[in-house]
Amino acid sequence: MIHHTIKHKVTTLGGFILEEQRAYPWATGELSGLLRDMGFSAKIINRDVNKAGLVDILGATGDNNIYGEEVKKLDIFANKQFLYSLQNNGECAGAASEENDDFISFPSQPKSSQKYVVCIDPLDGSSNIDVNVSIGTIFGIYQRISRGGPCVESDFLQPGNKLVAAGYIIYGSSTMFVYTTGQSVNGFTYDPTIGEFCLSHPDIKIPRQGTIYSVNESYKYKYAQAVNDFIEYCKQIDKETGRPYSSRYVGSMVADFHRNLIKGGIFLYPAMKGHPHGKLRLLFECNPLSFIVETAGGKATNGKERILDLVPEKLHQRTPIYIGSEDMVNKAMEFLNAKEEIATIGT
Ligand code: AHG
Ligand code: MN
Ligand code: MN
Repeated sequence: MIHHTIKHKVTTLGGFILEEQRAYPWATGELSGLLRDMGFSAKIINRDVNKAGLVDILGATGDNNIYGEEVKKLDIFANKQFLYSLQNNGECAGAASEENDDFISFPSQPKSSQKYVVCIDPLDGSSNIDVNVSIGTIFGIYQRISRGGPCVESDFLQPGNKLVAAGYIIYGSSTMFVYTTGQSVNGFTYDPTIGEFCLSHPDIKIPRQGTIYSVNESYKYKYAQAVNDFIEYCKQIDKETGRPYSSRYVGSMVADFHRNLIKGGIFLYPAMKGHPHGKLRLLFECNPLSFIVETAGGKATNGKERILDLVPEKLHQRTPIYIGSEDMVNKAMEFLNAKEEIATIGT
């Protein structure tokens, strides 16, 4: 008899989710179902991102979303696709999306518990759609608080420390699905030849200290002096700390975040004149990525408080954010704490 050793065991996203579920004997499989649905939608969006140049899906719809930003067609498509699959899966009671003014409550389904709600940025980095630069999807999953009937707003206004799972998909030079249920962060790369996300980055840990800083420096004259002092620090020459750090800013938070997660680095979107809460949305962008970064050993703060401890007051709330390698975020906070003016910027 010939014994064959199978050398390359491929773990698919679906297989991994099930394996993770087995570690919790009490798990009902509903969260697993929800995560698998996110993976399925990701494949559909990926298909359309890839053929975006070929079909009439590119370009603006002519509408603005509630932030007054131009809405691209692919944003709308991605939003519909995710909401549609969440609505049909039976595990999800409702969703709040960056693209919708209000949350959506899904019709109740007999025999389904619908115990989760989802917050989602269906297409992050939309200004990069037309120019072949990485874009993404960001999502967070919470247990709903209300019982039975339609969802209520407080189901969505939960602090990030209540997240059950969070993840992102990056449609880049390759497409990846990265998620965590709070134990470890795992990354899966899409193999289009078999149509599966395959485990490629198990148990991701962010380096304590990196050499990359990501910030839109064009707002220099709108930032507080303390922010500019930190940026200046990143540029100074210092052998011991590896400075000057490299500046990398894609303009899709999910892509900047992903790179920094793997290589180590800090991403900041501070408060600025006219925008006292910065730009990024607490529910749709900051909380899910903060949950991921903390699980990977990193840190996320608004300059004063841990992002995950902020109690949201409204769905589309924005917050300044400093996120990434722990030592780098701590260093940024040292600068911020040294100057009081940060508290009043933009007001
Ligand atoms: P979205 O496409 O979902 O509106 O998000 C864009 C966000 C974020 O991804 C990115 O980091 C940031 O906007 C870029 O903003 P600036 O152009 O102001 O730097
Ligand atoms: Mn976004
Ligand atoms: Mn978006």
